[in-house]
Amino acid sequence: MSDVVKLGRFEKISRRVLIDTSKMLKDAKTELFNDVHGKVLEVGAGIGVNVFFLDRPEVTHWTAIEPDLKLASECRRMLSKMGERASVFEGYLHDLDEPPESYDCVIFTTLLCSVPNPDEIVRDAHRLLKPGGKMYLIEHTGDKFGIRAGIQVIAKIPWKLITGCNCRNNPIPSLSQEGLWEEAEGGLKMEPAPLRVKRFSPMLELLKPFVMTTLTKAGPL
Ligand SMILES: C[S@@+](CC[C@H](N)C(=O)[O-])C[C@H]1O[C@@H](n2cnc3c(N)ncnc32)[C@H](O)[C@@H]1O
Repeated sequence: MSDVVKLGRFEKISRRVLIDTSKMLKDAKTELFNDVHGKVLEVGAGIGVNVFFLDRPEVTHWTAIEPDLKLASECRRMLSKMGERASVFEGYLHDLDEPPESYDCVIFTTLLCSVPNPDEIVRDAHRLLKPGGKMYLIEHTGDKFGIRAGIQVIAKIPWKLITGCNCRNNPIPSLSQEGLWEEAEGGLKMEPAPLRVKRFSPMLELLKPFVMTTLTKAGPL
């Protein structure tokens, strides 16, 4: 029997968006993931597009969490080239049975736009980081002004139904929860993510702008 997973039309659109987004973020990810090392946790790994940036000797083990079984199966195929240095956990972050402070680094790429409980997921990931450990994030945000902002407002509900993603995402409140990150003292700032755009895509246009940051787990108070 073939192990090729059959995808529905909406799943194909979502998959296309994941691949095209990752290509567009190539420069951003190369820069951001430069010092990712040790035991790494990726939350919501999708089809495993970050393998192109994390298959490096500095990464001793990468746990990719993905609750969607079809995506997880594709992710497992993508990560297979890393052998025992990578594994896929099929489930939600809160299902992962690992002691606190188990990981050197945590990665979120375009995750908070797709979760119903961003505050909780940030706190859970923070708990799994070692003191001084780092969280690496790339998220898209709602545009503030102009035509794109207007289109995002109109497209928000249909886009959510098709892809499960909030094109008006705002990651700042959940990342700014008190006492989590050294960089959040005095107000958290995220920098614009450089985008590699080869041709116009209305779907990717809808998601701009993208922002990124690295956050350090604050030490004991
Ligand atoms: C927009 S996709 C991004 C996938 C991938 N990070 C990327 O950059 O291509 C968000 C992913 O998060 C997963 N997800 C949603 N809630 C989650 C949770 N509570 N724990 C772990 N993953 C979750 C979804 O199944 C989906 O694959």
